[in-house]
Amino acid sequence: MTDSSPSSTYHRHELAKDAAEVHAFHESNRQGWNEGAIRYTEWLEKSIAKINARQSSLHPIERANLRRPGIDPLLGWCSLAIHLQCASGEDTLSLWLEGASRVIGVDISDVHIENARKLTAATQAPAEWYRCDLLDTPHALDGTADLVYTGQGALCWIHDLDAWAGVVARLLKPGGVFHVLDDHPMSWMFEQDADTLRYAEGMSYFNYAEAAQGWPTTYIGDLGKKPEELSVMYERLWPLASIHAALTGAGLRVDYLGEHPDDYWNSYPNLKPEYRGLIPMTFSMRAIKA
Ligand SMILES: C[S@@+](CC[C@H](N)C(=O)[O-])C[C@H]1O[C@@H](n2cnc3c(N)ncnc32)[C@H](O)[C@@H]1O
Repeated sequence: MTDSSPSSTYHRHELAKDAAEVHAFHESNRQGWNEGAIRYTEWLEKSIAKINARQSSLHPIERANLRRPGIDPLLGWCSLAIHLQCASGEDTLSLWLEGASRVIGVDISDVHIENARKLTAATQAPAEWYRCDLLDTPHALDGTADLVYTGQGALCWIHDLDAWAGVVARLLKPGGVFHVLDDHPMSWMFEQDADTLRYAEGMSYFNYAEAAQGWPTTYIGDLGKKPEELSVMYERLWPLASIHAALTGAGLRVDYLGEHPDDYWNSYPNLKPEYRGLIPMTFSMRAIKA
């Protein structure tokens, strides 16, 4: 989801029709993320310092949803956590800090995975990284994960949710846990730079994809190029019911769904205080593989 600042442009786009189009959208997103991940390269020293200081970046909602008896949420039950869409690896290594014995991150962006490898070298964390479209996550990892974790701006980049849920299901051990905290689809429905909740013309909760160039000022911001000089990135709004249906269709049992006012992106920077907290900005979902 993007704003309409001068550093980015976006317009509504047709949904992906078939596997070839899904692949083409994801490949274009890979190029776009290689451009945007340069910002994460600038943040790398900070990430290294945080991990070495054992400061977890997990959100309090994630910690609460994953908590087991014991001090750290993953301690004692998670020997392997796989993080889908791991970006430059700070959240992945936070899963280790939270008690996972070993972690694996999967991401489509070459630059993100290079950063993640540098993060491992600087922290000696027990982590492995795979640079691939998550739909092509190696089958050698099937049935190995106690936890499959994703979120914080993840699902919007995936253009085949049933195939995505199939990957989640095949990576988990029986009894393994899936967790996501991500943008609530409702948070797409309003004008991002308005100071009230004003319907964004052209949005559809049920059927919406967009093509964007450039990045929101509240996130990656200006990369010093005009939007038309940057790769086209394709995003998809997934209604909560589609996410639930994809996971249950892949054989998982959804045992928790939460809707939250918390907004980790500051998506509506100009919104007046009296409009904050009126709509869900994020959701979290936990599911178990039978
Ligand atoms: C907003 S980031 C996820 C949030 C992350 N926790 C962070 O620290 O910013 C989205 C990530 O999804 C990755 N991504 C997008 N499409 C993907 C795909 N098809 N397969 C794997 N990774 C993908 C991007 O490269 C990017 O790192």
